[in-house]
Amino acid sequence: MSNRTLNIGMIGGGGGAFIAQPHQRAIHMDGTRRITAAALHPDPNIAMSEAANWPYPLKGYESYDALLAAHQNAADVGRLDYVLIVTPNFVHFDPAFKAVELGLPVMCEKPLCMTMDEADQLVAAVQRNKVPFSVAHTYLGHWTTLFSRHIIRGGLLGDIRWVDSSYLQGWLATKLEDADNMQASWRTNPKAAGKSGCGGDIGTHALMQLRFLTGLDVVSVSARLENFVPGRLLDDHFTVYGKLGNGGRAIIRASQICHGHKNDLAIEVVGTKGSLVWRQEESEALTVLLPGQPDRKYWRGAVSANDGFLGDLPAWLMAEPKIPSGHNEAFHDAYARLHRFFEADVRAYWAGQPFQNDGSVYANVHDGRMGMAFIDASVRSSEQDGAWVDVSLK
Ligand SMILES: NC(=O)c1ccc[n+]([C@@H]2O[C@H](COP(=O)([O-])OP(=O)(O)OC[C@H]3O[C@@H](n4cnc5c(N)ncnc54)[C@H](O)[C@@H]3O)[C@@H](O)[C@H]2O)c1
Repeated sequence: MSNRTLNIGMIGGGGGAFIAQPHQRAIHMDGTRRITAAALHPDPNIAMSEAANWPYPLKGYESYDALLAAHQNAADVGRLDYVLIVTPNFVHFDPAFKAVELGLPVMCEKPLCMTMDEADQLVAAVQRNKVPFSVAHTYLGHWTTLFSRHIIRGGLLGDIRWVDSSYLQGWLATKLEDADNMQASWRTNPKAAGKSGCGGDIGTHALMQLRFLTGLDVVSVSARLENFVPGRLLDDHFTVYGKLGNGGRAIIRASQICHGHKNDLAIEVVGTKGSLVWRQEESEALTVLLPGQPDRKYWRGAVSANDGFLGDLPAWLMAEPKIPSGHNEAFHDAYARLHRFFEADVRAYWAGQPFQNDGSVYANVHDGRMGMAFIDASVRSSEQDGAWVDVSLK
């Protein structure tokens, strides 16, 4: 494998953006990838002036169309290896679709896009162009998430009966969108965020955590999308009862009015032999609960194979903790892990070799489409007073 540094083009990130910042740190964490080009802002003048003053060398473009055209016309060495899309939801589909059509790998923020039609078009384009595509479901990148997946999918908890997956926040408990807050403004605007506010924004993380850990789809939903802040146009409280593909049941909840909850993503998976509990705000450890036994708390970096519960552990998983236990990994490390796994696929792609892109270490375009299908079904169920609605699986 070539050890040249990968070149990344970033779409979005200027004007006081939020999520572009953790991505930038995560991208540069390993020294194997760097952001070299960007279309930072919808206003071309701001895009260019911010690029000129960026903290590290960056080729600025007036628009993402200009960035993609430059990639297409560049000699080999000047080409981008992948693009990162960190714009609001309504600016995901167009750049993602255009990049994929150029054969350029994409890491796109969640939710994948705005509508099921866009999601289907993206899936078709990725299949047609055979290009790596990742949806940035950050929390899949925690080592404890990968380890939980190993435990659950390895059958150590038995058959899955019940999952309680929730993502609670409190930052939208007041009408922050009226206080000139950029992040709140577009998230509460259906034209920029999509059909669901809270559900699309963080309910998709709760769903993805469930699907990634268990390998099960939520096949049917009975949903209530509620709105507690007067005058708000989209849900700020999202409660979904779901049927799982194996006959089990789940609750998938998200809320942005729960005072005191910061980024409280939590999941409890209950099987016939035991349960597993994980919280992202304490993401260094997970707990396994087995009947008649003391609780088992497993810390990242301090896990041993064949301990009476665990069997053998995959070498790649054991090699992934990058610092010893007791020194915290966190959000940036989770993002870095997603970029690291995606980088491996991107390098294979450019070398003309087979690549995974199978959803086993990061969310792919199919996972992104499943997030859209879940939201679509939940919105329709809520409109019918919580009637059961099937999720479009495909
Ligand atoms: N995975 C996660 O944990 C996570 C966390 C937060 C946000 N997100 C997602 O990331 C995305 C961005 O969220 P945010 O909170 O950073 O938003 P933000 O409002 O802070 O930033 C959006 C950025 O997009 C830029 N932009 C908008 N239109 C553009 C265009 N046409 N061309 C170029 N740039 C454009 C803005 O200038 C800004 O830099 C959203 O889809 C959100 O759902 C994901």
